[in-house]
Amino acid sequence: MITVRGLSMRLDSGGRPVDVLTDITLEVPARQFVAIAGPSGSGKSTLLGLIAGLDRPTAGDITVRGVEITSLGEDELARFRRDTIGYVFQSFHLIPTLSALENVAVPLELSGEADAMERARALLDDVGLAERGHHYPVQLSGGEQQRVAVARAVARRPSLLLADEPTGNLDSATGKQIIDLIVALNRNLGSTLVLVTHDPALAALADRVITLRDGRIVSDESSNPSPCPLPRGERVP
Ligand SMILES: Nc1ncnc2c1ncn2[C@@H]1O[C@H](COP(=O)(O)OP(=O)(O)OP(=O)(O)O)[C@@H](O)[C@H]1O
Ligand SMILES: [Mg+2]
Repeated sequence: MITVRGLSMRLDSGGRPVDVLTDITLEVPARQFVAIAGPSGSGKSTLLGLIAGLDRPTAGDITVRGVEITSLGEDELARFRRDTIGYVFQSFHLIPTLSALENVAVPLELSGEADAMERARALLDDVGLAERGHHYPVQLSGGEQQRVAVARAVARRPSLLLADEPTGNLDSATGKQIIDLIVALNRNLGSTLVLVTHDPALAALADRVITLRDGRIVSDESSNPSPCPLPRGERVP
């Protein structure tokens, strides 16, 4: 599902080059749930943003569902992202001037779905917010806003769901509910899930935990049996 080869990201920090990611190589099979862990500043968000095609690496390439996204032009990349990837942010990123229902409908309307509002209503129901569709983000709690953001992220049934510390702004009980929701929706969709988290308890729910330190992979451990495991060190032909 995801193949990352020799990925490096060098950024400029006040005139000084900083190696944010160095020679990352990894393979994620379809339907796997991977957690990316590691201390603050280790490059987790940078890696997720690169896999999402939100940014361009300094070196290396990334293939998602057979498409080498690192060689796509801007328009193709935007289309690919819209069709294939759902992204959940730590800080929800809802549009404040739209209601919960309208926020969920946005990606459906952009892709020209005829019954966007109806689908959005069903999605809000799936995340337990059927009665809150007319509320604006400011009228919702953090956990409710994140539910709306999750509904929006899965609206187009993406085959890859990415989440960057989706519970970082929530208390631990609400955070756990959001993770359970993301995992359940991911399972229903049969999609691949890559989740960045600081929290070892949340990482432990994943099939596999990849830990970064100073922009390098320092451990890569499969906990639960993965749906289609590859023997360590072997590549997809
Ligand atoms: N645009 C940028 N320009 C310069 N340096 C950057 C930029 N973006 C990130 N960095 C640096 O890259 C390193 C990795 O950042 P990143 O946000 O990927 O870490 P992270 O593991 O997600 O951290 P956190 O857990 O705090 O979210 C940090 O040292 C950060 O300061
Ligand atoms: Mg981060």
